[in-house]
Amino acid sequence: MNTSGSPLLQLLLGLALILGLAKPDPDALQDYCIADNRRPGSIFTNDVPCIDPARANSSYFATSALSRPGNTGSNQYGSNVTLVNTVNLPGLNTMGLTMARIDIAADGIVPLHSHPRASEVTICLKGELTVGFMDTSNRQYTEKLRPGDSFVFPKGLVHFIYNRDGKRPAVAVSGFNSQDPGTQLASMATFASKHGIPDAVLKRAFRISNQELTTRLGT
Ligand SMILES: *[C@@H]1O[C@H](CO)[C@@H](O)[C@H](O)[C@H]1NC(C)=O
Ligand SMILES: *[C@@H]1O[C@H](CO)[C@@H](O)[C@H](O)[C@H]1NC(C)=O
Repeated sequence: MNTSGSPLLQLLLGLALILGLAKPDPDALQDYCIADNRRPGSIFTNDVPCIDPARANSSYFATSALSRPGNTGSNQYGSNVTLVNTVNLPGLNTMGLTMARIDIAADGIVPLHSHPRASEVTICLKGELTVGFMDTSNRQYTEKLRPGDSFVFPKGLVHFIYNRDGKRPAVAVSGFNSQDPGTQLASMATFASKHGIPDAVLKRAFRISNQELTTRLGT
């Protein structure tokens, strides 16, 4: 069937094109919008207000936030993610991107999580990482990364990073196509959300018993 002239097909292609070009963060309307971190957070905008461009200088566009390793010993996962944001790099405000340094101890993990507002591309700098994500049809995509290898985690999909080396720590750097990717940890959202999901919901959803529920909530 020749559908090249079909108005419906043209409409669908047009829509696909528009959706394909849609960006997670809106484009900036000026060269830059250096975050004004001194203003009180009483006004909520889709980004942070800018300082007077006349006060701009190069140091607003530079940061050493990723130069130091995060402490991987202070949490149960053995990992630490250091994120660049509008506080430690005010010049990234409205640019639609950010980056993170990921330190993972031997046998450590970045647990299952998703970023509702950004896709992520990660490059392994040190060590050996197993990375993976699950798509919406529950297919799993896993790869092993060595230094110099990269992997993309599509926006919103649950993913993990695992340092499968039991002896040496690993380091990776990630880029995101939003200045504020947001992070939702699957375990925290499920078992440690503020007012708690009703036990009955958790038990039915995960097919677990009262005892298992108490054990999970206790951790
Ligand atoms: C840029 O301006 C800030 C705030 O006034 C100041 O702290 C910083 O030292 C300046 N940096 C340069 C390179 O002029
Ligand atoms: C990550 O490392 C920093 C710097 O050592 C530390 O302040 C922070 O508490 C660590 N975060 C976690 C979640 O362990």
